[in-house]
Amino acid sequence: MRVSVFGLGYVGCVTAACLAKAGHEVVGVDINAEKVTMVNAARSPVVEPGLAELLATVVGGGRLRATTSSEEAVAASDVSLICVGTPGRPNGQLDVDTVVRTGQRIGESLRKRAEPLTVVLRSTVLPGTTERCLVPALLTGTGGRAAMRVAVNPEFMREGTSLSDFSRPPFTLVGCGDPAAASLLRLLYEGVGAPFVHTSIRTAEMVKYAANAFHALKVCFTNEVADACAALGADAHEVMRVFLMDKKLNVSEAYLRPGFAFGGSCLPKDLRALLHAARVIDVSLPVLSAILPSNEAQMRRGVEAVLATRRQRIGVVGLAFKAGTDDLRESPMVALVETLIGKGCDIRILDRNVSMARLMGANRRYIEEEIPHIASLMCSSVEALLAHAQVLVIGNTSDDAALALTAASPEHVVIDLTRGAARRAASARAAT
Ligand SMILES: NC(=O)c1ccc[n+]([C@@H]2O[C@H](COP(=O)([O-])OP(=O)(O)OC[C@H]3O[C@@H](n4cnc5c(N)ncnc54)[C@H](O)[C@@H]3O)[C@@H](O)[C@H]2O)c1
Repeated sequence: MRVSVFGLGYVGCVTAACLAKAGHEVVGVDINAEKVTMVNAARSPVVEPGLAELLATVVGGGRLRATTSSEEAVAASDVSLICVGTPGRPNGQLDVDTVVRTGQRIGESLRKRAEPLTVVLRSTVLPGTTERCLVPALLTGTGGRAAMRVAVNPEFMREGTSLSDFSRPPFTLVGCGDPAAASLLRLLYEGVGAPFVHTSIRTAEMVKYAANAFHALKVCFTNEVADACAALGADAHEVMRVFLMDKKLNVSEAYLRPGFAFGGSCLPKDLRALLHAARVIDVSLPVLSAILPSNEAQMRRGVEAVLATRRQRIGVVGLAFKAGTDDLRESPMVALVETLIGKGCDIRILDRNVSMARLMGANRRYIEEEIPHIASLMCSSVEALLAHAQVLVIGNTSDDAALALTAASPEHVVIDLTRGAARRAASARAAT
């Protein structure tokens, strides 16, 4: 394939050299003439292990060259990858001016061209940037003609190991609405040993931010755990060695699905105990300290969503902190219901496990003594709940949640705090 790579920094140089190694015919483009001269002389403009050797092979073999001319590069390519910088402004805002300028220059180079060019944004940009900034810039450049397809393809390499990361990334991620662009990129990355993931443009843009935010969170989480270990006399390396052995709950998909706030008898209590122990010995744990306020923000979001409907009769499915349990201790749904009662809402609740617990079991005392005002709001069927409710609040992924969603009429306003999990479960059941 004939490929042009715009921006010969870390990402662009590695991308250009690796695609040339894979057998593609590659032209690198940079506004910095010095970088262009260096690449043409098979010298690496960035320090990256193995890159100088690779450039020597692919430049020497005639599969990679560089230019400062966008027009020349576009004329020699079927696909253009944009790898220019997207720095942060002093206030943190993303600066996409270079992406816009590059888009305009690519667009201008397309004016005389008949066959479509596939333009692929590889730089890291926030969701919506491709549609709001790159596409208009390309169209400004072309003068309105649209002989192009657009896709995003975020890069997941790390400096220092970028050559091996390029050939073995976690996945090849492509966001685009055009199947032809997706097929072309599948072909471009044929030699890369990773699953090919085709999704929407905004999803692909956001996955990169979710990944980088998570990586940053992992570093700070681990360092704070290590600080707590040091202060409390535990061996941080041994703690994390054992922690990492748990591939079921710790290093896994567990707790990484969008949903509602956490609760229960352990997580909030144990976090508070750890934070208290650190506080009394003056150890600062800012990330861990931010967790409970973040959880409370999720509960407020739920309350605000219900109040925003401006309806009073509310039906809630799920009161325990998760489906399949009757444990109400620190359930975020109890907190939500209490707040809504305080705001004058008329509530009914359906949770069969809690209803059972009212009749027997260890939680009976808790229900009778701690939350009698809530216990009296329990109802016994989906029908009774829906007959009362103007607003249906889904708080768990139980069978009753799925039944209530199926039986709800168009007049019911549905607020799914599980963020679609209950609806997905309902349609999965319907399909089987
Ligand atoms: N560095 C990394 O490890 C890494 C990893 C993944 C993603 N990213 C993202 O990839 C993007 C590029 O990062 P980088 O570190 O390679 O940037 P960089 O600053 O090293 O390189 C950008 C290059 O683009 C060139 N350039 C600027 N305007 C141009 C134009 N109009 N036409 C052609 N070239 C132009 C610059 O001269 C520079 O050489 C950023 O969005 C970054 O966030 C970086």
